[in-house]
Amino acid sequence: MKVTVVGAGAVGASCAEYIAIKNFASEVCLIDIKEGFAEGKAMDLMQCASLNGFDTKIVGATNDYSKTANSVVAVITSGIPRKPGMTREELIGINAGIVKSVSSNLIEHSPDVIIIVVSNPMDTMTYLVHKNTDLPKNRIIGMGGALDSARFKYRIAEALSCPSSDLDGMVIGGHSDKGMVPLIEKATRNSVNVSEFLSPERMNQIVNDTKVGGATLTGLLGTSAWYAPGAAVSEIVKAIALDSHKMIPCSALLDGEYGIEGLSIGVPCIIGKNGIEKIVEISLTDSEKNKLKESAEGVAKTNTLLD
Ligand code: LAC
Repeated sequence: MKVTVVGAGAVGASCAEYIAIKNFASEVCLIDIKEGFAEGKAMDLMQCASLNGFDTKIVGATNDYSKTANSVVAVITSGIPRKPGMTREELIGINAGIVKSVSSNLIEHSPDVIIIVVSNPMDTMTYLVHKNTDLPKNRIIGMGGALDSARFKYRIAEALSCPSSDLDGMVIGGHSDKGMVPLIEKATRNSVNVSEFLSPERMNQIVNDTKVGGATLTGLLGTSAWYAPGAAVSEIVKAIALDSHKMIPCSALLDGEYGIEGLSIGVPCIIGKNGIEKIVEISLTDSEKNKLKESAEGVAKTNTLLD
C-alpha cells in the first residue's frame, strides 16, 4: 500500500515516520514545495530503517505529483501552522488555497485515493476537499478526533496517575479550542467510568485542558505540535491498510447524522479499506447533544469564510 504525505514539515515528517515504524505500508511518498526538503527528510528517515526495523520505502519529491501516482491514501498536512495566541480558524485564508490545489493535484494522479486532512482549520479544510473534488464522502477524512481523543486520554491518565493504555475515551465535535466535545461522562478506566475516581471539578479541568491541548503546545513550542498529530494520522492510515474496522472519531461529512448536515465534524467512524465505512450514532446526553450542536454551529460559521 502506497501512502502520500503532502508537506514535509514537522507534522508531515512525523506522519511519515510513524507510518514507516508501524511497518504496514510499502511506500510513503513525502512531497513538499521547498526544493530538496522532502528528499532530505525522506533520506534521513530511510537511514532509520535498519535502526528501527522497518521495510517501508520512503521517497521524497519536490512538488512533482507524478511521484504520488497510485496512492491508496494521501495525507494533507500542507499550509501554515498556528503561532502562539492564534486560533486554527485564523489560518483559513492561506490554507484554503493550498488545500484546494493539493487535493486537485492528488486526485489527478490517484483518482480513487482516500484523503486524510490535517491542515487547519481542519473541519473546514475537510469540507473544502468535499466541495473541491468528486471523491465520495467516505474517502475524505479529517483527523482531529483521533488526536484530540489521545490528548484527552493523556489528561485523564495524568489525573488518575495511570497509563493511557488503561483508558477509553473519545472527543467528538470540531477540532477547535471551543468546539471540542470531550465525552468525559463516557470515559472509562478498564470499563469503570472515570467519574468513580474523579471529582466533578477534576473532570471539568480535564475537559478544559483537552480543549486547549493544541494551544497549550503551541504556547510551549512556538508552533503547532507534531508528534501526536503524526501518530494520530498513522493510526487512521493503519486502520485503512489493515481494513481493521476500528472505531476512531474523525471529521466526516454529515448528512443528517446527529441532526447535522452539510458540514464535516468529528464523530465516531468505523475506518476500513474504503475509508469511512460507517458513521456510528451513539446515544448522547442532552448536554452532550447541545455541545455538539453548538460546535457544529461554530464549524458552519467558519465554513462560510470559504465563500
Ligand atoms: C494540533 C493541530 C494539528 O491540534 O491542529 O496540534
